[in-house]
Amino acid sequence: MSAIIKDIEIIKSKTTKINEVDFNDLKFGNTFSDHMLVCDFKDGKWQAPKVVPYQPITLDPSAKIFHYGQSVFEGMKAYKDVDENVFLFRPLENFKRLNISSKRLAIPELPESYFMEGLKTLLEVDKDWIPKNEGSSLYIRPFIFASGNGFHASPADEYKFIICTAPSGAYFSGKVKVLIEQTYSRSANGGVGFAKAGGNYAGQFYPTQLAVAKGYQQVIWTDDNTHEYIEEAGAMNIFVRINDTLITGPTSDRILDGITRKSIIEIAKAEGIPVEVRKITVSEVVEAAKNGSLKEMFGAGTAAVISPISGFGYNDTDYDLPELEDTFASFLKKTITDIQTNKSEDPYGWRVKL
Ligand code: PLP
Ligand code: COI
Repeated sequence: MSAIIKDIEIIKSKTTKINEVDFNDLKFGNTFSDHMLVCDFKDGKWQAPKVVPYQPITLDPSAKIFHYGQSVFEGMKAYKDVDENVFLFRPLENFKRLNISSKRLAIPELPESYFMEGLKTLLEVDKDWIPKNEGSSLYIRPFIFASGNGFHASPADEYKFIICTAPSGAYFSGKVKVLIEQTYSRSANGGVGFAKAGGNYAGQFYPTQLAVAKGYQQVIWTDDNTHEYIEEAGAMNIFVRINDTLITGPTSDRILDGITRKSIIEIAKAEGIPVEVRKITVSEVVEAAKNGSLKEMFGAGTAAVISPISGFGYNDTDYDLPELEDTFASFLKKTITDIQTNKSEDPYGWRVKL
């Protein structure tokens, strides 16, 4: 789908909050930059996007987002190099995935130019909000939700596409201890697990609270049918290293097709690390933990980057992972973040300069 936007209207904020922000102590996603992009779907088409001051949104209580959860989102990051050049990482992949998610949730698809030009215009306006410190970046949250009204359980006739940004540090503060889930499910065959739909996350909160109460930080979801296969975590895809082979599960209609995941697979293969994309059984991971061949587990995602897992719980037993000197996780994290932040060559053509 293509559409040309002539000029994106920019309404600048009269004040800035930037001086209130400690860029040396950024948390994840709780400080927001001065502007946002807003684009309305009404009268059967997406209207011209605008950059406006960051502000609350007014909605009718009958707006369908509140009742039927018609919403999708994306997660991306903008990085600054030492010369203040700004880069995005594979942004077209996020645009494509947003439309894949929208289609599944009966939300009208967005033209590419509205997403890409809208995003670039917003980043130009809020360029000063992009952190320079190592480990920090501007987290970008594009999202679409049903703003149209009515209690009829059917797709809305109006939507809002918004992009907000948040200068952010690490998502997890240290290594993550996970619980392999045996009761609840995140997604099912034919469901919406492959989409970045808001409800996918709401449905994880309660089982995750139960896991947190037992001393874990995250749940690793297993397949809804048998609970025998490792699928993914709440906000990241999962990799395991058994001896010297890196393994991750195949994507399906239950698993998000993570951009970090597919980049890691490509990097690992190019670097000579044996990679297998295949179903991973819980029993093989437990067995490998018992016999010492399970060397690493880590999550991969935009917010999480690459987050090492310190251990996992399963069947009321905890299994610790070894503390290795040189890990695949640290090598892959350095390789991907060096590409993202323009510290190394980008042989894959993934980095996009603003
Ligand atoms: N899986 C889920 C459920 C996620 O929310 C995310 C985060 O976006 C990922 C995986 C990783 O995807 P990506 O690497 O595209 O950020
Ligand atoms: C991301 O990694 O960008 C995500 O969307 C995860 C999010 C739930 C924090």
